[in-house]
Amino acid sequence: MSATPERAHWKSRFGFILAAAGSAVGLGNIWKFPYITGENGGGWFVLIYLACILLVGLPIMMAEIFIGRTAQKSPVGAFRDLSTPKSPWMLVGWLGVAAGFVILSYYSVVAGWAMHYTYLSATDAFAGKSPEQISSIFGELYTNTSLNLFWHGMFMLVTIGVVIGGVQQGVERCSKILMPALFLMMLILFGRAMTTDGFGQAFDFIFRGHAEKLTAAGVLEALGHAFFTLSLGMGAMITYGSYLQKDDDVVSTSVTISVLDTLIALLACMVLFPITFSHGMEPAAGPGLVFKNIPVALSQMPGTTFWATIFFALIVFAALTSAISLLEVAVSYFIDEKGWSRSKSTVVCGLAIALLGIPSAMSGGTGIFGEQFAKATEVIFGEGNGKNWFDLFDYLASNWMLPLGGLGIAMFVAWRVGPEARERGFKAGSKFGSLYWGWVALLRFLVPIGVVAVFLNAIGVMPRILQVIGLG
Ligand code: PHE
Repeated sequence: MSATPERAHWKSRFGFILAAAGSAVGLGNIWKFPYITGENGGGWFVLIYLACILLVGLPIMMAEIFIGRTAQKSPVGAFRDLSTPKSPWMLVGWLGVAAGFVILSYYSVVAGWAMHYTYLSATDAFAGKSPEQISSIFGELYTNTSLNLFWHGMFMLVTIGVVIGGVQQGVERCSKILMPALFLMMLILFGRAMTTDGFGQAFDFIFRGHAEKLTAAGVLEALGHAFFTLSLGMGAMITYGSYLQKDDDVVSTSVTISVLDTLIALLACMVLFPITFSHGMEPAAGPGLVFKNIPVALSQMPGTTFWATIFFALIVFAALTSAISLLEVAVSYFIDEKGWSRSKSTVVCGLAIALLGIPSAMSGGTGIFGEQFAKATEVIFGEGNGKNWFDLFDYLASNWMLPLGGLGIAMFVAWRVGPEARERGFKAGSKFGSLYWGWVALLRFLVPIGVVAVFLNAIGVMPRILQVIGLG
């Protein structure tokens, strides 16, 4: 039950920022955010998402890093150490470990798509094809079960390989070179997107309110995505924070990570939607958006093969640095709590997740995890809104498990942790000590009320409450 004797630490705070930003920036920014923005009609959805990042995500990020750095343990042990043995707060830690399993199981399928696209780009598969032909490649991949299984397996193997290498060598080294490269690549594509004729329309779509498209489910999705994109609510930042030195600054670190993450997500939208509108494509194209649009745009540029290969390879790496943190939560739980060796823990957890991902890899087909599954879930989500296994996992993990875990983390830091330790921890090494009470107030009041209201709204209870108190 005890911790490893010598706990590894980051070589520098910069190393931590890169790794934590590596966890935050991933498929959530480049694949998921643009496509859910497209589906929810842009505008208001983006605004609510930004509000969630600032008012809910940022305080919880500070809470997580604070917990990890103070306890120097992975989530379950951290909750125990900062409260009492057998404390019910440990449930929040376990929920996090479970969320790590669920998320990585389907995350790896999408990362597999990016791997396949890297392969396609490198072998010149987009050259000389019309936009329609290029778009249709995604559908072929999506429905091809064996191809999905193959790439899902490959991606899990790579992830397991990196995590076995340990905290510093594995994670830190990868993030240091590849994160800035991804950012640069997005900037180049953004420069390109600015010259297309769909740019104005795209800008309008992303930033001007279209309130009529916003639904209660959309608000829940914006909140859930704020957690997902910042890697919050499941202890990833607690785990990374546990490798920090005691006097590394929580506040400026959290702000840096959140700003970087948000920038890349917005940049991804400003790259993708101009392409969408210039080619008369559909903004609500679903999970295939980035895989359809980027190759179409790049196929019209000189050096298609080169740029497309780099672009998708960087996405694979961005996904990898996120996947590492997802796996690390489960792995460090078994190391810290069960005394397993790093390699045993990594292999066992990694293989279990790979198996759990099989149904997700088969979700694009017509079979029991695909269309049939979606048909069956119409009972819950209504006619035509059924979800296949993959969609259901994503929905449950991002929209319910992460916000619920985040709520637990916020309540824990706001009400359970000793006030002195909390204040000392927040102010240690930071220039922003004066923000302390603002942070506590957000965690105490706004976060719980906000998250619960969004939950109630999503299950349809909120409108009734508003009616009863005469506001609806
Ligand atoms: N933040 C990652 C992304 O946006 C996904 C992730 C979620 C990673 C939760 C760790 C924990 O792609």
